[in-house]
Amino acid sequence: MPRIITLTVNPAIDKSTTVNGIMPNTKLRCTEPTFDAGGGGINVSRAIYKLGGSSLCSYFAGGAAGTYLKKLLDEQHIEQSVILTKGSTRENLAVTDTSTNQQYRFGMPGPQIQEVEWQNALKQLEVLLYKGDYLVASGKLPPNIPDDFYAKISQVAEKKEALFILDTSGEALMKAAKSKIYMLKPNLAELGALCGIASITDLNLKSLATQFLKNHNCQILVVSLGPKGALLATRKEMVQVPAPVVHQKSTIGAGDSMVAGMVMSLIWGKSLADMVSYGVACGTAATMHHGTQLCSKDDADKLYDWIKDQKPTIETS
Ligand SMILES: Nc1ncnc2c1ncn2[C@@H]1O[C@H](COP(=O)(O)OP(=O)(O)OP(=O)(O)O)[C@@H](O)[C@H]1O
Ligand SMILES: [Mg+2]
Repeated sequence: MPRIITLTVNPAIDKSTTVNGIMPNTKLRCTEPTFDAGGGGINVSRAIYKLGGSSLCSYFAGGAAGTYLKKLLDEQHIEQSVILTKGSTRENLAVTDTSTNQQYRFGMPGPQIQEVEWQNALKQLEVLLYKGDYLVASGKLPPNIPDDFYAKISQVAEKKEALFILDTSGEALMKAAKSKIYMLKPNLAELGALCGIASITDLNLKSLATQFLKNHNCQILVVSLGPKGALLATRKEMVQVPAPVVHQKSTIGAGDSMVAGMVMSLIWGKSLADMVSYGVACGTAATMHHGTQLCSKDDADKLYDWIKDQKPTIETS
């Protein structure tokens, strides 16, 4: 049975709170905050657990916030493998203005990572990975780590014959896209950056996806389209999946819930069309909750049934 190993290079303690009206130069009285373990891969591991699966969550952590992060993940029954850092784990803040229902998300850069620390991560993964495992790396890179870090991770996965799934952005994505990737999950803006195109429309999305696969060593491309669902593209098929309209509360963690749903579908042996449908269901399910709460399995399963009834468009070539 393949295992799922998630990697979080820039984890965070996500603090969420609410306030009635946001104004400058005044003391804003917030409600009692909630604290959550956050950061791409950690969110994927948390969502996998909510979907009934298990994963090994590998992440960088340091300082008092790093210790607190471990405690939060222990409470959520997540198996962990920590790469210790000298710098302190970052703390992010999300504030919802209850007078407008608008959410403000403040993200911190994260600690400087020393070369010996990121080298440790590569060594650790080499020990952890076995043939056929899924290695899921999600999230931005912290300062000071080389932009090609995920490309280096891809090489470790390739050496160990593990399947590399990546969800990142910026320079880290540009560099990693040149390496071997089993499944890549950009959103529209990220695909635009990869293709050197400022705006992607319904008219050129599929041809850009085809072009991307032609020029890269990537097996499955899943472009997430926010409220419009997702497009899955391989060299053999394209699957367009609509997202159900729901009462949206917070889009935090939608992308990570989607990735969790897709990797669980792979573990369950589902088809790629079903995989992306379940991914959209999980992504949309995450938007139905406030703050940093991820998808619930109950919501995801109901949304998946709805999506299946819509019959996602499948084109084969
Ligand atoms: N407003 C929405 N309504 C319904 N579903 C949504 C909405 N926003 C996101 N989703 C679901 O979540 C999935 C991922 O969302 P999105 O495309 O916004 O990813 P992302 O930009 O990577 O998100 P993140 O900010 O978490 O990184 C979508 O494919 C869709 O299924
Ligand atoms: Mg994303």
